[in-house]
Amino acid sequence: MANNMDTIITIDGPSGGGKSTVSRMLAAALGYTYLDTGAMYRAVGLQARKQGVDLTDEKQMAAMLDKLDLQLSPGDGDTKVLLAGEDISAAIRSAEMGMVASAVSALPLVRQKLTEIQQQIGAKGRVVAEGRDMGTVVFPKARYKYFLDASAEVRARRRVDQLHEKGEAADYDDILAQIIKRDHDDSTRALAPLKPAADAVLVDSSRMNAQEVVNFILDQLAKK
Ligand code: DC
Repeated sequence: MANNMDTIITIDGPSGGGKSTVSRMLAAALGYTYLDTGAMYRAVGLQARKQGVDLTDEKQMAAMLDKLDLQLSPGDGDTKVLLAGEDISAAIRSAEMGMVASAVSALPLVRQKLTEIQQQIGAKGRVVAEGRDMGTVVFPKARYKYFLDASAEVRARRRVDQLHEKGEAADYDDILAQIIKRDHDDSTRALAPLKPAADAVLVDSSRMNAQEVVNFILDQLAKK
């Protein structure tokens, strides 16, 4: 049997680098499962917030994680996320939940639990795994690894446009400041910091649209 790691593609990078769109399109083109791990951290953040759990209290966090009932079903758009049966797909997408997700993602217990779930999903192979530590920690033996980046300014502009499309107010300077803070927090944390795996291909998407990035990756897969 082929090694399942031969059919795992990891897509890591900072927020706004185009990872979600690229991962979703790539998974659709290949008939693979799209694994949106950011949605999992966001769901844990929402759960903690709902239950009023103190993030610094390990006992409370462990009890909450033990009972975590999380289901993901990738669709045409954002991944559908069910928390104890409740559809929280829309609720986890706010900028505020992004910040809460970033905070819970620095906690060892949370990373351990979500890494386990992600590896179980990946064990079957044929997965496009998107996140921050897919190529470094969760699937270090994956055959294909990409790190998608773009300048903070380009990422802020894209995020503002996305929010405007949804009819939400967004201030460019606020969003840029948030992106810079989140990049800093995500890449300086002790555990599974945001960084490219040594064997990842770096892709700068500042001047490429999602389809161009997907084509670039599909080209590379065809050549290997
Ligand atoms: O990709 P996103 O914006 O939905 O991710 C939300 C937060 O979760 C982000 O601040 C970093 C964190 N995260 C992580 O630490 N590891 C992952 N594999 C995915 C996301």
